Amino acid sequence: MSATTPSGGRCPVTGHGGGPQTPHQTPPQKGGPAPRKKAPDAELLSKRPSLLGLIRLARGNVLNVIPHVALYYPIVSDRLLRRFHVIVDPEGNKRVLKTNFANYPKSPEAKGVLAKVLKRGLFVIDGDEWRWQRRAMNPAFAPRNVARLTPPMTRAAREAAERLADREGPVNISWEMMKTAFDVIVRITFADGEGESAVPLDVVSPAIDHYLSDTGKVSLLDYLGFPAWVPRPGRMRTHPTLQALKDGADAAIAERRQKPNTGEPGLIDMLIDAEDPQTGRRMTDAELRDNLITFLIAGHETTAISLAWTLYLLALEPETQARAAAEARDVLGERAATGEDVPHLAYIRQAFCESMRLYPPIPVHLRTATAADEVSGTGIRPGDTMILPFYAMHRHHQHWNRPDEFRPERFADMTKIDRFAYLPFSVGPRVCIGADFAMQESIITLATLLARYRFSLTDRPAPKPKLILTLRPDRDIWLEVRPREG
Ligand code: HEM
Repeated sequence: MSATTPSGGRCPVTGHGGGPQTPHQTPPQKGGPAPRKKAPDAELLSKRPSLLGLIRLARGNVLNVIPHVALYYPIVSDRLLRRFHVIVDPEGNKRVLKTNFANYPKSPEAKGVLAKVLKRGLFVIDGDEWRWQRRAMNPAFAPRNVARLTPPMTRAAREAAERLADREGPVNISWEMMKTAFDVIVRITFADGEGESAVPLDVVSPAIDHYLSDTGKVSLLDYLGFPAWVPRPGRMRTHPTLQALKDGADAAIAERRQKPNTGEPGLIDMLIDAEDPQTGRRMTDAELRDNLITFLIAGHETTAISLAWTLYLLALEPETQARAAAEARDVLGERAATGEDVPHLAYIRQAFCESMRLYPPIPVHLRTATAADEVSGTGIRPGDTMILPFYAMHRHHQHWNRPDEFRPERFADMTKIDRFAYLPFSVGPRVCIGADFAMQESIITLATLLARYRFSLTDRPAPKPKLILTLRPDRDIWLEVRPREG
């Protein structure tokens, strides 16, 4: 890969271009905190391979094609089928995602299969359509409203703790967290008023399973800029399971319009009532359905894998886990956490933030430039692909001290964190609408489990991060789970 960087010096890998910043890896300081174990990472690209070599690499793990220099330099530019720029610079992120975001719509490839099957959903729409829907939906996801949605989170966390009580031997934590996050998102999205889902689970589960295991996979073709009409495996058509989910959602919406929910509220109720404050416009049934299914997909696996990675990292660092568990026990004893406990679980929040730094669930973002611009000192032309690898940004040696270590304390004072260097939920107008939802759910789940159980590593090989649809561990995470004494 021939990398160019904005000014002076030379790229240490390719010898091309240059970088304005001296890579700075803060050496352990005398009297500073003791070093910790290295969190598992992915092998990045250290020299320019042939196109075939690149394809072979990425078939294993798309993360392997992020250039290693992206851990040291702000921008790496090159050309494959199109010109592209790998941006690993807070100012560059700010330009693309915030100050000039209208110039950088999501690439068609970034929307993947969702663009075909949920075409009216917030994740894939752009321009004025996106603007009014986002205005209409923002209040449902505002912290005050999310607080009303937390009871199903507490119930799902309690059920997860109860399931673990019966286990002997290592536990498949990846599976447990998928189950917990699924219970939360389905019960809140399609709330039936009595704590369950108005769409039968035997309709929801197969559709989500199919999406996660096949349809939604990121292909290297997406990143290389092959047009969307080049067939990708598993993307040929809408799968019957997804059609069944759409039908189930349609039925639930029709029923709810007839008979409003007087019990525990859910997103379905909030979206039916949602209106654009500027125009009073409300969503059609088709828009409602595409959005509710978008929430299921966007809010399920992202949260589940972050929870599993967090428990893995806490098992890797027992002292850190002991501190998080002490906090949970102080606040909860052995009961399950509620939304009201969340502000008192500061260290668990830090641990979750730090886990999303090391393993951001959506680790690479794609945008396409529509007009000429300048980003991080580099001229951008219309049609250029902007690749924003948050995975590399979060481990960049210029911006993070000891970037490969799990150190929740770095999030103790959020004012010290550069908003454009830490982007698990992205930033700017298209920031994740479910960020507060995800934080509440994750803190409630982690605190409930840590108060009751100690998690430790097994003798299985360490999981490595792998980009498939999201940043998954390359193998399920298994941990020993034992009751915590007194
Ligand atoms: C740890 C959990 C989560 C993470 C890390 C996460 C991350 C993200 C990121 C990075 C984006 C921006 C994507 C892009 O620009 O291409 C995004 C968008 C979005 N997320 Fe999340 N998300 C999480 C949980 C949730 C939940 C729980 C929901 C809903 C209940 C949700 C709904 C959405 C939606 C609808 C969008 C599109 C917003 C827009 O374009 O206006 N997410 N998420």
